[in-house]
Amino acid sequence: MSGNSAPLLLRLFSGSRCSMSAVVWSLVGCVLMLHLYSLVRHKDVVTGEIQSHTVQNPQLRELQKVDEEKIQMPPPRKRSPRAAKRKPKRPTTIIEEFLDENSQLRGTFFPGQKTAIDPRKDGNDSFYYSPAKIWLDTDGNPIQAHGGGILYDEKTMTYYWYGEYKDGPTYHAHKKAAARVDIIGVGCYSSKDLWKWKNEGIVLAAEETDETHDLHKSNVLERPKVVYNENTGKYVMWMHIDDANYTKASVGVAVSDYPTGPFDYLYSKQPHGFESRDMTIFKDDDGVAYLIYSSEDNSELHIGPLTKDYLNVTPIVQRILVAQHREAPALFKHQGTYYMITSGCTGWAPNEAHAHAAESIMGPWETMGNPCIGGSKIFRLTTFFSQSTFVVPLPGLPGIFIFMADRWNPADLKDSRYVWLPLIVGGPVDRPFDYNFGFPLWSRVSIFWHRKWRLPQGWRVMK
Ligand code: GAL
Repeated sequence: MSGNSAPLLLRLFSGSRCSMSAVVWSLVGCVLMLHLYSLVRHKDVVTGEIQSHTVQNPQLRELQKVDEEKIQMPPPRKRSPRAAKRKPKRPTTIIEEFLDENSQLRGTFFPGQKTAIDPRKDGNDSFYYSPAKIWLDTDGNPIQAHGGGILYDEKTMTYYWYGEYKDGPTYHAHKKAAARVDIIGVGCYSSKDLWKWKNEGIVLAAEETDETHDLHKSNVLERPKVVYNENTGKYVMWMHIDDANYTKASVGVAVSDYPTGPFDYLYSKQPHGFESRDMTIFKDDDGVAYLIYSSEDNSELHIGPLTKDYLNVTPIVQRILVAQHREAPALFKHQGTYYMITSGCTGWAPNEAHAHAAESIMGPWETMGNPCIGGSKIFRLTTFFSQSTFVVPLPGLPGIFIFMADRWNPADLKDSRYVWLPLIVGGPVDRPFDYNFGFPLWSRVSIFWHRKWRLPQGWRVMK
């Protein structure tokens, strides 16, 4: 600064002190008004229910009427006086009860065979989703498609559900390792109505003998997702490939001419040279597909477009939700805005979901907070005791989606359950944002807890 400029600046300020303070006060006023407005809008969101401004149809209003839950903690188990002396027992938490296979609450979290959803029986329960109940396929066997995702195939006008086929014994590879089931393969189920699912078999199978193969049964194959490539006419599967200790942290790619496989396994790699654990694929309206994966010890997510044939990543990549420690990403799009649901990182144990939004898929991404509504506080803090895996768009119902999650059962992983719930984009968000000066540009994402619910009749053609 030159010798003269400081006094000049001072003079300028003192000369316009009056107008400057007017400007400052007007700005403060504006900010207060906007803040007040966002507070008033915030009051619209009540704990149990959301008054969505977008959903007027009475059938759709049904989807927002949540069920409440009250889980009574069981009395402490009787212990011998000697055992009690050795180690005084601290009170168990409801999550500990959930994870305890001998808990008296077992049947509450994992209802038995008697209450299974059976599409072969035509009755009052037809087309009703019952989160966490055993869900049978059209042969009467429990569906095995965990950590799954859904592809709508335009050619056959059929939905395909792909997921981890885990129908084997659960064990620990060593004392400190996470519970696991040997790789069996990727299960595939087909449906016209998203409720009645036919088993199409294992479309990518484990390798039984070659121990050096990525798909050797002693390794890990999780969260398979399939997208159709219009340029090549091929169905491309991406999945998390790992060793039993989760140190390989890679993605695997497989390809098929048909949605029902068999898929040819191509290779695995660390995308962009980074660790990749929980992952998903999102195909945008313009045909560009993206890989989204948890990286850097799960502390952040990475996102980047795939090549035109979807068989590889490109050099373009962006770090998002840095230091937020999120995984289990599930992306979807509504009215040009991108949304994502993620979980925290607590292995098979449930934790709180977050919803995120972005104007550009490559970011910046905003965290909007917990999308769960209904149940009870602990239900909302544990994503209804489940973890996100996919969000299914319903083209006939703009703004309405199916939230797909896994209620993992780490004591017996094959008996993990599916939690499918209505997800609605609409209404005000409930916390200020980091970007956009804290003023929300986007709508709230809400996931409504129901013991039993169904899509509105005629959902395919509704406008
Ligand atoms: C979770 C992850 C699952 C599985 C599990 C193993 O965090 O979302 O897909 O990898 O850990 O403990």
